Amino acid sequence: MDHREHTSAVEAIAAPVLPDYLVDTYAWAYLKPHSLRLLDQHFVVNAILWGNYRRLVRWACEEFSAGDRLLQAASVYGNLSGRLADRVGPRGSLDVIDIAPLQVAHCGRKLSGRSNVTVRVADAALPPGSGYDGICCFFLLHEIPDLHKRLVVDGLLRAVRPGGVVVFVDYHRPVRWHPLRPVMTAIFRWLEPYAEGLLRTRIEDLATQSGDVEWSAETRFGALYQKVVARRLR
Ligand SMILES: C[S@@+](CC[C@H](N)C(=O)[O-])C[C@H]1O[C@@H](n2cnc3c(N)ncnc32)[C@H](O)[C@@H]1O
Repeated sequence: MDHREHTSAVEAIAAPVLPDYLVDTYAWAYLKPHSLRLLDQHFVVNAILWGNYRRLVRWACEEFSAGDRLLQAASVYGNLSGRLADRVGPRGSLDVIDIAPLQVAHCGRKLSGRSNVTVRVADAALPPGSGYDGICCFFLLHEIPDLHKRLVVDGLLRAVRPGGVVVFVDYHRPVRWHPLRPVMTAIFRWLEPYAEGLLRTRIEDLATQSGDVEWSAETRFGALYQKVVARRLR
């Protein structure tokens, strides 16, 4: 079934066009119905993250609180959205966006029955809402071209309220002695052409107005992963 069949007419009019980087590089992973069946399984996402999936989800979720109004900047295989919705609880809410209608339909099915969640098609560079208490951007930046990385970081910083946080969890360049460093280098060269642009740049440096933001950064697992928390000051 074509992924467009999942969207309503209104969504189809409002939906952004699928970007070339997604169609050319990641169609196999995100734009085919059989990829959903194959990849959206705990053992697969956990294997891709070297057994760290739950720890990375926990690391992201701990930045948010009960009652928060949250945005998730792109849909993710696994249970991140459910964990974020649990974290904010019934007094809070979670809006999930994704640029691919197929992913939106899939995420909507996974989260059906949760009254505090909405899922819709949008580009993380132009989030449809604003004034969020928190935004979670989980393993998106390494999959998008450098210019789009900047647009997404700026777009998310605009969508959070003063005092709110944008939390980026993503890859980072591992320490020199890391046993997975050569493996990750090969994987990135083979499958993830935009990852190198993230490894050589601080996320803070992607923001146009980084001075209006308080930045904190942490790495884990031999610096293979990073969490960057951007608190908007005004
Ligand atoms: C979050 S990233 C990578 C997540 C991770 N590899 C996983 O476990 O799923 C994958 C998602 O980002 C979406 N995406 C790519 N570019 C986007 C953009 N500019 N705005 C919103 N979603 C985007 C893709 O459609 C895909 O569903």
